[in-house]
Parts: sequence; C-alpha cells; structure tokens
Amino acid sequence: MDRIRIRGGNPLRGAIEVGGAKNAALPLMTASLLTDETLVLKNLPILADINTLCNLLLQHGVAIHLAGAGGNCAGRVIELTARNLTNTTAPYDLVRKMRASVLVLGPLVARCREARVSLPGGCAIGARPVDLHIKGLQAMGAEIELDRGYIVAKAPNGLKGAEFVFPKVSVGATENLLMAATLAKGETVLVNAAREPEVSDLAHCLVAMGADIQGIGSDTLRIRGVERLHGATHAVVPDRIETGTYAMAAAITGGELDIMNTRLELIQSLATTLQPAGVVFTEIENGVRVARANGELHGVDTMTEPFPGFPTDLQAQMMALMCTARGAAMITETIFENRFMHAPELMRMGARITVHGSSALVRGVERLTGAPVMATDLRASVSLVLAGLAAEGETTVNRVYHLDRGYERVEEKLAACGADIERIGGGGED
Ligand code: EPZ
Repeated sequence: MDRIRIRGGNPLRGAIEVGGAKNAALPLMTASLLTDETLVLKNLPILADINTLCNLLLQHGVAIHLAGAGGNCAGRVIELTARNLTNTTAPYDLVRKMRASVLVLGPLVARCREARVSLPGGCAIGARPVDLHIKGLQAMGAEIELDRGYIVAKAPNGLKGAEFVFPKVSVGATENLLMAATLAKGETVLVNAAREPEVSDLAHCLVAMGADIQGIGSDTLRIRGVERLHGATHAVVPDRIETGTYAMAAAITGGELDIMNTRLELIQSLATTLQPAGVVFTEIENGVRVARANGELHGVDTMTEPFPGFPTDLQAQMMALMCTARGAAMITETIFENRFMHAPELMRMGARITVHGSSALVRGVERLTGAPVMATDLRASVSLVLAGLAAEGETTVNRVYHLDRGYERVEEKLAACGADIERIGGGGED
C-alpha cells in the first residue's frame, strides 16, 4: 500500500493546475444514462473514483471512450454512449466502493422505468442515509421497496412531475431528482435544493442535452420534463475543493501559489473566512493567487454549511491550517456527524485540539512535528499532507488510496512548487 513521505518546512512557490471537479464529474457521467446519444465531458479529472464509476456504467451497458488515455478509465475527455442499456442493477460490490454510485438511480428510473441499486450503507464520516433520494422519487410516482439491501424502484408508466421540498439540503438527492425530473411528465419543483456549483454544472449540462430547467444556481429548481434528451459536449467545472486545498497549502507553508484553471468565486467562502486570518486571495488571469498578508496566521472560527457557506470538504484542511495559527479557532461541523477523525492524527503531530460534539477547539502551536499518520477518508488524508508540509521533520501519510480517490498527482503538484514530498510504493501500515 502506497505511502506519502514529507519533510516539512519548505514554503511553496509556483503554479499548480487544478482539474475538473470530482464531485461534478461523477453526476455528469451518470447523466449519460438519460440519453441514447453520446455525452462528451471535457476537463475530466484522472481519479480512482472516476474509474469506479466507469466500471459501474460499463456494466449498465454504457459504451465509454477515453481520449488520450491508456488501458483504464483515465483521460481528459470521456465519451459516454448509453444507446442500449442492458442492465438496470447497480450491484453492492461496486456501490460499496463509492457512495456516489447511487446517482445512477434517478437516471435509470427516468429512462428505463426501473432500477435496482444497492443501498450504499454508512461510511467513515457519518451514517449518510439516502432517504431523501427515495422520498423524492416516490413523490414523482416511483414505487420503491427495499429488498435485501437493494433499493428497487419501478415507474411502469414513467415518472410524473411533482413538488418536493427538501427538509435538509442534500447535494446528491438534488442531483438524482434533477436528472430524474428532466424526463418526467410535467413540471417538477425542487424546493430547498442544493446550490453547490457541482449541482449547477450538472443542470447546465442537462440544459445542453435538451432539458428545460429554470432557477439554476438558486434553491428552487423548476424542471419541465421533455420527451427525450440528446447528446452534448460539456466541460467539467474546476474543482473548488482542490483549489481550496492548495490555497491552504500556500497559507500553511507561508509561501505563495498561483492556482490555475480555477475561479475565485468558487471558493469565496474560504477567501472570506481566511482574510481575517491573514491570508490574501487575489484574482489573476485564469486563476487565484494565494499568500499570507504579512507573515502571521491568526486563528479564526469556521462553521461548515451548504453552499454558499464554508464547505465541509474543506473543514479538515482548515483544521490543519488553524493548528499553526496564533490564538484559538473554533471549527464547527454541521453537515456530517463524524467528520473529525483527522483531529487525533493531527494531535499526534503536536496539535492542540479539543473536540466537543460537533465543534473542535484548536489552539495554535508554534510548530507541528512530523509523525507517521493515517486517515479514513479523502479530505482527512489531505489535511495530514498539509500538516506534514508545515511540520518539522518527517511525516508519513499512510493509506494513500484515500488521496487517490480525489486528488490527482498531489505529490507531483506539490513537489513542483518546492515541497519535499514523495510517494513510496508498497508496505506501510494498513
Ligand atoms: C456530496 O455528498 C459530496 N459527494 C461530498 O463530498 C460532500 O461532502 C457533500 O456532498 C456535502 O457537500 C459528492 O458530490 C459525490 P449530501 P452527498 O447528500 O451528496 C444528509 C468528498 O470528500 N442526507 O449533501 O452524499 C447526509 O447524511 C465528499 O468529496 C440525508 O439525511 O452529501 C448529510 O448529513 C464526501 N438523507 C447531509 O444530508 C439523504 O437522503 C448532506 O449530505 C441525503 C443526505
């Protein structure tokens, strides 16, 4: 199992390119199930999760072509053609590897009028139920049963437009219902819908495929169902979480990075939060420049919220950053109930953190010290990489497969900007 070894202390300088957003690419790929024509996605990130979804779509009967790729599903441009869907079951073995697999549910029911999708189960950051996906589809006329760990959905006469009010903001449920509604009869209104840029990116792609969607970017989406969708070409929105992660890499090392192929507006909440901490974000052509204002970093409080609030997917990285700030910082997680697993690992590196329920009080220390660490999810893992970049001595981050799910060539990108970081193949802790 690969590990990443970091010798901390180098301020990062240079430019880092950000890829397309993993969390946009995944729902966009499942949107290909809605049409028998080809959907072309550009700016595709090369990640383990993209491979996993390719495997799922292949077994549904989607033909996949990757331009500029080798034998597996890595590539910048992907062409997906769901001409003949041969199988409407998403099996446990693939769904358990990646929860986003549940995004095939809405498109399959809408197009094939039936689907059998494994329930994803819990995961390292929380219980993560899919009840809202199910209730929304039921509101649209689907008959749904749970059978031996599978969601079995049927809509023999097709889905019908409906109004669905989300009791809680859900990115995935909004995406599933949005896709399903494009082929439903009549109008669907999704109230209290997620406004994350990845949801808007999906909506824009669906419009390019012939869908009728009003209110994109707002919390109320109005979708008038159409007979059929057609092919389209769409570029995946830049990854705001990768952008924010590298922004914090600049800040934690006291360096200066130009983060390219991305937009400041995608990480506005991070920029606003970090301004009083002493971090400056400047819009540059095709990117964002990030550096400390005058050397010092100050503790600031953060609370995660649905977009446009502070993203839960940057909370772990924020905690790493605050570990080295002057003063205290209160970090409150409101989206997931168990997303502080990085705290004890950061404490092994000398951080002073006290967790009380959904809040963590971080008291800044002069410097972190390197240690062997590991994490159980993607963002927690990258927070340990950030801590390692700032720590004195050597840090080894184990379980690098978590990083590979969502960060493309992370060690190469950081090394090119002066980090002393390398991937070590095999061995290591489990
Ligand atoms: C998406 O997950 C992202 N994943 C997550 O990114 C991200 O953390 C999350 O949104 C929040 O921004 C993808 O886009 C593939 P939710 P999703 O439905 O859609 C509860 C990463 O590191 N809920 O918005 O699964 C749920 O338990 C990952 O890249 C229900 O109660 O998240 C959570 O508390 C991790 N019932 C809250 O809503 C439901 O039916 C928000 O979850 C659905 C969700």
